[in-house]
Amino acid sequence: MDVEKAFHMTGGVGKTSYAKNSSLQKKESDKVKHIIIQTVEELYLATTPKSIGIADLGCSSGPNTLSIIKDIFQAIQGTSQRIMHHSTEFRVYFNDLPTNDFNSIFKALPEFQKLLRQDRKNGFPSIFMGGYPGSFYGRLFPNSYLHFVHSSFSLHWLSRVYYTFPLSCHAHHLPTVLASYRRIINNLLVVCVMQVPPSLYDEHKRPLNKGCVYICESSPEVVSQAYYQQFQEDFSLFLRSRSEELVVGGRMVLIFLGRRGPEHVDRGNSFFWEILSRSFAILVSQGEVEQEKFDSYDVHFFAPSREEIEEEVRKEGSLKLERLEMFEMDKSHNEHGSDESYGTQVAVAVRAIQESMISHHFGEGILESLFQNFAKLVDEEMAKEDIRPISFVLVLRKI
Ligand SMILES: C[S@@+](CC[C@H](N)C(=O)[O-])C[C@H]1O[C@@H](n2cnc3c(N)ncnc32)[C@H](O)[C@@H]1O
Repeated sequence: MDVEKAFHMTGGVGKTSYAKNSSLQKKESDKVKHIIIQTVEELYLATTPKSIGIADLGCSSGPNTLSIIKDIFQAIQGTSQRIMHHSTEFRVYFNDLPTNDFNSIFKALPEFQKLLRQDRKNGFPSIFMGGYPGSFYGRLFPNSYLHFVHSSFSLHWLSRVYYTFPLSCHAHHLPTVLASYRRIINNLLVVCVMQVPPSLYDEHKRPLNKGCVYICESSPEVVSQAYYQQFQEDFSLFLRSRSEELVVGGRMVLIFLGRRGPEHVDRGNSFFWEILSRSFAILVSQGEVEQEKFDSYDVHFFAPSREEIEEEVRKEGSLKLERLEMFEMDKSHNEHGSDESYGTQVAVAVRAIQESMISHHFGEGILESLFQNFAKLVDEEMAKEDIRPISFVLVLRKI
């Protein structure tokens, strides 16, 4: 599966769209908004640029996209007023994968421009906005182009899906399109692919991460190692690329899902994937989904620990980690102001994110029953014990 082509949040403004089902992310981002505002103000005071470059990486579409830009804009306007520095021009870049619903953003821009210009105390600021489609795992902007980079709930998505094979695996079992990543770990060949391989079996014709869409209790060690290695490659490339694009003194605020400690399997983010796996298993038992299809589905997601994040920043060397804080997701979330159960709320949020990949792999037909199972299982599990996913917020400064 080519992630860059198949993966996108559900576009538009329909019932299952990301735009209608992203208030969970908004609520979490709001918890650390004060950190974003404070960082932007400090940055502005330290650099007082004539033209300020701001990028939102993994912006998606819907209310969250413009809401954070409005907050950043107002923080800068407020600070420039205080210090009587009135001539800043704004350059705002919206980035996401090319499959993102950029049209929804573009259609909202004229009204948004008007809204930003409503506050005329500071004159009419010049605001230039544009879309920058492409993967943030690589260069997107020219050198020293940006002052502030924001990214929320995007960096836990890896660039790739990868698969493990026994070393004895016959060549015809390997996928036809192989990317550069090929490593031998614990006598297994780990291959990174941009396409779903036709068959992934060991010599006994068993898939290696059978029954799981992410690292789970039964996953062999090699699976978590492969995921971690992919995170290291991706995150270091992200940091290296941004470092070149930021001016000296430029800042980044990154918010993404993570895990509490060294264990990959816990009752946090990984547990939601465990529940998704169980939801698929029910469909398999009902004959709605083929076992092989299920076994060859993996999510390109990784929840890093604090230490794993710090290690990549330290290795990269040109960015100072000024802040790294963990925060926990609220379970008292209500997306539509209705009395929907927590499980249903999480199910619609996960669906808006995973729908494109699942439809690509299994067809759209299974979505309703899959996410009904998911909602029910989340509620059942919550009745036994809380699920407590966590996120990290990082502030980085280019040195
Ligand atoms: C859950 S949405 C978050 C959207 C928004 N920032 C928010 O907080 O609501 C994650 C976004 O990251 C984007 N994304 C994932 N991997 C990406 C990559 N390699 N390059 C650019 N965008 C990516 C996805 O397409 C998706 O729109």
